[in-house]
Amino acid sequence: MLVTLEGLDGSGKTTVWEALHDTYPDATFTREPTNSWYGDVVNRAIDDDDSDSLAELFLFIADHADHLERVVKPALRDGDLVISDRFSDSRYAYQGATLDGRIKRPMEYIRGVHQPFTVQPDVTIYLDVDPRTAMQRSGATNKFEQSKYLTKVQQNYEQLIEWQPERFVRVDATKSPEEVLDRVEDVFETILADE
Ligand code: TMP
Repeated sequence: MLVTLEGLDGSGKTTVWEALHDTYPDATFTREPTNSWYGDVVNRAIDDDDSDSLAELFLFIADHADHLERVVKPALRDGDLVISDRFSDSRYAYQGATLDGRIKRPMEYIRGVHQPFTVQPDVTIYLDVDPRTAMQRSGATNKFEQSKYLTKVQQNYEQLIEWQPERFVRVDATKSPEEVLDRVEDVFETILADE
């Protein structure tokens, strides 16, 4: 089973992902951008304020393609629980925002590029936080962590949830880290019991 964690920068998703290591020690924990050389290239693009938005999309997608073949698919074949800190929805939401105005219907376009080769998560936990809180928490250290931009990213996540409500579980991430983790662990208990 593939479970992904999504949300704005500062939603606390990485803290949750780290805490889940103790709860599910046998799970495969992974993340995007990855720690491969493809991920290094992606991180260069994130830190470059002038990188081309379309080129950047394809760098993220290259990292995703490698991640799928090297980590995600083999773990799923072994029957592992795979927990990924960000996955394809981050591209739909974030690059959907960077490409707004450059490409017609960017989210549909990006989903279309992924569709022939990606794996759809069984469950996506969306850590819901408003852009203001997200920015205050993340400290606005990279170009994606700007209020206007994050507002667009948030709208894109909402659109994704509207398209596939059955896949998403929304968790209020404005609560304390302990409360958020408790809620996420409840979600995991439910989905693993249903399996
Ligand atoms: P992180 O904060 O979860 O490490 O992600 C790094 C930044 O990259 C964050 O601002 C979100 C952004 N990002 C995208 O824009 N598209 C993607 O596909 C992924 C995985 C991350």
